[in-house]
Amino acid sequence: MIQMTQLLKADSSSIAAAASLLRQGQLVAFPTETVYGLGANALDAQAVLSIFAAKGRPADNPLIVHVAEIEDLEPLCQVTDLAKQLMAAFWPGPLTLLLKKKSVVPMEVTAGLDTVAVRMPSHPVAHQLLAACRVPVAAPSANRSGKPSPTLAQHVWDDMNGRIPMILDGGSCQVGVESTVLDVTCNPPCILRPGGVTKEMLETVLPEVTVAGSVLRPLEKGEKALSPGMRYQHYAPQGELTLVSGSDEKALPLMNQLYDEALARGESCCLMVFEETLSAVAGRRAQSLGQHRHPEQMAERLFDLLRQMDKLGVARIYSQVVDPHGLGLAIMNRLGRAAAFHVIDAEDTL
Ligand code: TXA
Ligand code: MG
Repeated sequence: MIQMTQLLKADSSSIAAAASLLRQGQLVAFPTETVYGLGANALDAQAVLSIFAAKGRPADNPLIVHVAEIEDLEPLCQVTDLAKQLMAAFWPGPLTLLLKKKSVVPMEVTAGLDTVAVRMPSHPVAHQLLAACRVPVAAPSANRSGKPSPTLAQHVWDDMNGRIPMILDGGSCQVGVESTVLDVTCNPPCILRPGGVTKEMLETVLPEVTVAGSVLRPLEKGEKALSPGMRYQHYAPQGELTLVSGSDEKALPLMNQLYDEALARGESCCLMVFEETLSAVAGRRAQSLGQHRHPEQMAERLFDLLRQMDKLGVARIYSQVVDPHGLGLAIMNRLGRAAAFHVIDAEDTL
């Protein structure tokens, strides 16, 4: 169904209007500190179903429920002592916890699972919206399914114009990659999706944390996805993205060679390299990943960069990689999935 989409600067009156839409079972896109979310009243199964329709999202991929206050969780799930400890350390902020769900949470939210993912965002607009609507809000990232998550209201507009009634514009999202999804129903807790709260940060509170195997590689044949979202192709630009690993000394000449070969075949190409190494690819079309020593800068711009590749319409994209530590783990998970884990190791080939 085509509908008029309002794109409004987030202020007290637009937030009140958005809260009222949510209470009426409508969808609203809103900024969080990670990425823009596409929200619906989590207790209204019909409203939740319309999220899946607007995004083109497979029905078996469950949603995160967002709350304004920790007390709001009480009716929704069983909050364990360990979860309380993590909330005290990292909420509000980019950490999503999987907890045993209670019956009031509709099946449509959790895709039939007996756990529910919950999070309290720190973005002031998200907080004001959640406080104003007084219902828990189920919200996936506000992109069309498979596309990079939106970190600007414009990205949401590009994907959702005509499909939802309202987008609240709160500027660009500071973290830039989605929240860390941590399963605390198992022991030790397991990171299903790395994000803004890093493994190293979690280890300041937890004695042990594991990382799901499929974070840095494709699911193996017959392997069960711990997080259903890991099953699906995601973040991929239209052009074919290949990651090039190895030292700058090896990776950059190889990327230049691959670029020149693509051009010789008549294919348009773009390189994604660290700010510090842009001069090594001079004369070729290239975009900066951000500074190597500032992974938070890379995370903040990554999804916009992937969307820019579509705007440029390039057929081949080659990108440098980062160490999968700290925020680098989240960056490599997103880059890896955008590239369908297609990596060339420059140390092997030169
Ligand atoms: O930062 C974020 O988390 C953003 C903002 C809007 O809050 N939301 C977001 O939602 O990224 P979404 O739907 O794009 O990603 C949610 C991920 C999916 O990979 C999904 O499979 C997983 O969380 N997930 C949700 N509920 C789950 C559950 N009960 N068990 C396992 N995985 C779950
Ligand atoms: Mg998403």
